[in-house]
Amino acid sequence: MKGKVLFISGIDTNVGKTYATGILARQLAAEGHTVITQKMIQTGCTDISEDIEMHRQLMGIPFTEEDKAGLTCPYIFTYPCSPHMAAERDGRRIDLSVITRATQELQKHYEYVLLEGAGGLMVPNDFHSLAIDYIREQNYPLILVTSGKLGSINHTLLSLYACRQQGIQVDSVIYNLYPHTDQLIEDNTLEYLRQYLRHEWPDTHLRLLPEKSSYPPHSEMAIPTE
Ligand SMILES: Nc1ncnc2c1ncn2[C@@H]1O[C@H](COP(=O)(O)OP(=O)(O)OP(=O)(O)O)[C@@H](O)[C@H]1O
Ligand SMILES: [Mg+2]
Repeated sequence: MKGKVLFISGIDTNVGKTYATGILARQLAAEGHTVITQKMIQTGCTDISEDIEMHRQLMGIPFTEEDKAGLTCPYIFTYPCSPHMAAERDGRRIDLSVITRATQELQKHYEYVLLEGAGGLMVPNDFHSLAIDYIREQNYPLILVTSGKLGSINHTLLSLYACRQQGIQVDSVIYNLYPHTDQLIEDNTLEYLRQYLRHEWPDTHLRLLPEKSSYPPHSEMAIPTE
């Protein structure tokens, strides 16, 4: 078996990638698929990846054997910042082939590997490689998480523009309904993105991620496709 890898990026850090990844994994599992999540590079942690921890909470499962073996997050750096800076501060180097091999190992055992990136598409792994370069090289379909905050249209269109330029397949855009800021702007942003995708990316799904404040999530939580 060779599982399908979906790369989860976002228009920015803190936009809801971890949340979207965990809920999507839970949804795929509920549909009967085998699924695991992976965090490409975790910063701001010491021993365990807090994003993987949140994925498992959202999926309603304990840490897996692959988590304990370090396969689901091969690189963990202490300082909460971009991977290139975090690695440098810890005196380490990121070898992307280590991440690729870990993903390939997971693909042997799971139908889906949801791979969450750090920050957004133009985040540096080091001075020679950006997140988007890795996605293109690996030919992973992308899930882009966005939100209704002021500025999101600009960030979303720039991200999609970069994907088009790099020939990256955008599987879906997930519009996170959290946090609530300004209802008028949120509604307008959603409608704008809906029309933009219909026009420019007709094969890309638009999915809505509901707000949830309670953990663990309830079984009815899902990401509906429009
Ligand atoms: N739909 C949602 N409902 C409730 N809380 C949410 C939702 N989406 C995101 N959050 C909260 O917002 C914060 C940021 O979300 P999250 O950690 O998923 O962002 P991220 O894009 O993964 O960030 P990073 O770049 O650090 O990986 C978290 O505290 C998370 O619990
Ligand atoms: Mg995250």
